[in-house]
Amino acid sequence: MNHILKPRLEAPSLDALYDRVSALIPPMEWGAFADDIAAIQRLKAEKNAVILAHNYQTPEIFHCVADVTGDSLALAREAQNVEADVIVMAGVEFMAETAKLLNPSKTVLIPDSNAGCSLADSITGRDVRLMRERYPGLPVITYVNTSADVKAESDICCTSGNAARIVKSLGVDRVIMIPDEFLARNIAKETGVDVVTWKGHCEVHERFTPEEIRHWRDAYPGLVVLAHPECPPEVVAEADFSGSTAGMSDYVATADGRRVLLVTECSMSDNLAIQHPKVEFVRPCNLCPHMKLITLPAIRRALETMTTEVTIDPAVADRARLSIERMLAA
Ligand code: 13P
Ligand code: SF4
Repeated sequence: MNHILKPRLEAPSLDALYDRVSALIPPMEWGAFADDIAAIQRLKAEKNAVILAHNYQTPEIFHCVADVTGDSLALAREAQNVEADVIVMAGVEFMAETAKLLNPSKTVLIPDSNAGCSLADSITGRDVRLMRERYPGLPVITYVNTSADVKAESDICCTSGNAARIVKSLGVDRVIMIPDEFLARNIAKETGVDVVTWKGHCEVHERFTPEEIRHWRDAYPGLVVLAHPECPPEVVAEADFSGSTAGMSDYVATADGRRVLLVTECSMSDNLAIQHPKVEFVRPCNLCPHMKLITLPAIRRALETMTTEVTIDPAVADRARLSIERMLAA
């Protein structure tokens, strides 16, 4: 643990916050956000709360109310460092569950309890038990985009930011890697490890096609293509780089003067365009309907009413926590 995450004592002024996002958000729209932002800053101080926001959150959340931003791995790591009483997860349910697993004594709120994930919905704990019966002896590596029930049946978790490293760390030539078929196939290709997988897909990334990438390359000469590893392997094969949302963000930080296409969720480009005005973003993208349920009014309501609180059956939680802790220690 390298630092402690505490609520900010002094929130930046609304003018300072608008300066951060003015390149993207017109003054008329800002008018609709400012009241909620001011209320959220006040409520964070009152309730001793911090907001963790995923890279797919909209700019007014990502740049104006979040205390920590990042990919799934960074949010899990930061959740270990929280010293506040309340954590609000501006992300989807599995991220809030991970924060709760790592902070059992704290209140963890998800601003919209319907913010799920097609990957998490694709598999149950029972499915994992059946896979173990079918492939006895193979270690089970589970993507964090899953429920606590599924994590509890697993040996170790991974995220898109550390999947190859976790697979290699086991030192075996065959693993079960669930539930994302495409991530598993991409990692199998990268590591040379044989992977038994599941038919889960991210509904955002499965829609990209290699034809589409070739079309954008033709239309925008010099284009650098970055693809998330939840994309089909044929799409990743068309990209110049594949990595987690944090990996893409780090790549963009070195891309001043370049044209970049992020083959991922739409808010990624919006958030990075604010930080990197010298990068030209080509904008075809797909929206994640679950991430987009999290809005400023939803965050404000969550803090006002202290709902919806994430709870996990303690019998499940202990085993699920172990698979996350093994990942963070690997
Ligand atoms: P990252 O871990 O790369 O942020 O991905 C999370 C996710 O849900 C992508 O669809
Ligand atoms: Fe799940 Fe895909 Fe949305 Fe990420 S982008 S939360 S993987 S549905």
